[in-house]
Amino acid sequence: HRPVVPTSPDALAAAARRRMTRTAWSYLAGGAGAQRTVAANREAFGRYRIVPRQMVDVGQRSLATTMLGRDLPAPVLFAPVGALEVAVQHQLGRGGRGAAPRNAEPALADAARDLGLPLVISSQASTPMEDTAATLGDSPRWFQLYWSSDDALVESFVARAEASGCTAIVVTLDTHVLGWRTMDLDLGYLPFARAEGIAQYLSDPVFQQLVEARVRATASSDPGTTTARPTVAAVRSLLSMAAHHPGPTLRNLTQPYARAAVETFLDVFSRSTLTWTDLAWLRERTTLPLLVKGIQHPDDARAALDHGADGIIVSNHGGRQVDNAVAALDTLAPVADAVRTHAGTDPAQPPVPVLFDSGIRTGADVFTALALGADAVLLGRPWVYGLALAGADGVRAVTEHVLAELDLTMALAGVTETGQIGRHNLAV
Ligand code: FNR
Repeated sequence: HRPVVPTSPDALAAAARRRMTRTAWSYLAGGAGAQRTVAANREAFGRYRIVPRQMVDVGQRSLATTMLGRDLPAPVLFAPVGALEVAVQHQLGRGGRGAAPRNAEPALADAARDLGLPLVISSQASTPMEDTAATLGDSPRWFQLYWSSDDALVESFVARAEASGCTAIVVTLDTHVLGWRTMDLDLGYLPFARAEGIAQYLSDPVFQQLVEARVRATASSDPGTTTARPTVAAVRSLLSMAAHHPGPTLRNLTQPYARAAVETFLDVFSRSTLTWTDLAWLRERTTLPLLVKGIQHPDDARAALDHGADGIIVSNHGGRQVDNAVAALDTLAPVADAVRTHAGTDPAQPPVPVLFDSGIRTGADVFTALALGADAVLLGRPWVYGLALAGADGVRAVTEHVLAELDLTMALAGVTETGQIGRHNLAV
């Protein structure tokens, strides 16, 4: 009898892949271009080696840490992953495409709550953040923002995040244009052309106003455009989702509204004119700590801190944005050093947190990232694979495997607390 959720990262990915349609797998596992950076993110971990130590009393160990003033059971968070419902619906053996129960994000939130680890709620979540917040209870949550071209929508998302109990805002800077995702392109797959892909937006009052304005404008100027390509398939898909979605917004969708929703989303989801000075505007919109995600250069880390960021997330979006980009892990130590030695930082304040993602698959990977200067890591694709295999139990199992191996690795490296892990634990 073999466990449903394998402990080996490759076996985990392979098992999840067998359960999915090609489109779901391509969306989840795929990266930019020739997939070189996806591979490089993993290969980089092979270039740093942990040095085991002997005869250290490691009988009492703890993974506990604090992050932005809050105690956490381990230095691990759930990375924001958009359009999750679309991916999980594309499972084989669950009644086929579109027939699976709508349970991806509630299952994720269940697991995050049970583990007590923060969930970073995606802007592009397939469930409104208020519903996820209800499932999370008192468990920690952050909100990940894609900086919309519409100021009022940004303000609305931030206000909803605050009201939903989020204790930090993570603004993702590396996706102001979407990468060249070859696997999706070749299958003609656009997850955000489906209602679940943009449910976070559809549940937003400002977004609804934008859509309604577009519906009115389209109806008066060119009623013939309702059959225009390329959004017809998207509209059809939205309508089929609307039929069984419990929320009032989707239930009331009419065809022009559905099409306008997708078009509005594509219009407003990002803003590629941003520069560092714009960060002050966002900084003024919330009292919550503001973290920037997607940093890979020490100068960008310094600029972020100079312009009001309270934390840095080193990430290359799991290799989904720039192919041939440097492995995320190779940028971690220079960025962490830049943050630690930053001139403007007040030594009386708690240190600015540096987080890392892109390539974490195992507990040993977490150890390596902490050794290179991360205070915590975000787990991405592995928990999605766990979710696809076994719902909330799968997310819990994957995360517990990572934490168990981190704990063992600490023991075998002669370390009892995550804060002790440093470059001295690596071979140079
Ligand atoms: C992501 N990521 C992401 N990031 C973000 O800020 N907002 C988002 O909505 C998403 N959506 C998303 C969907 C999917 C399917 C993937 C795989 C990734 C990036 C994510 O937060 C994280 O940076 C990467 O997943 C890290 O890479 P690995 O460890 O998963 O390879």
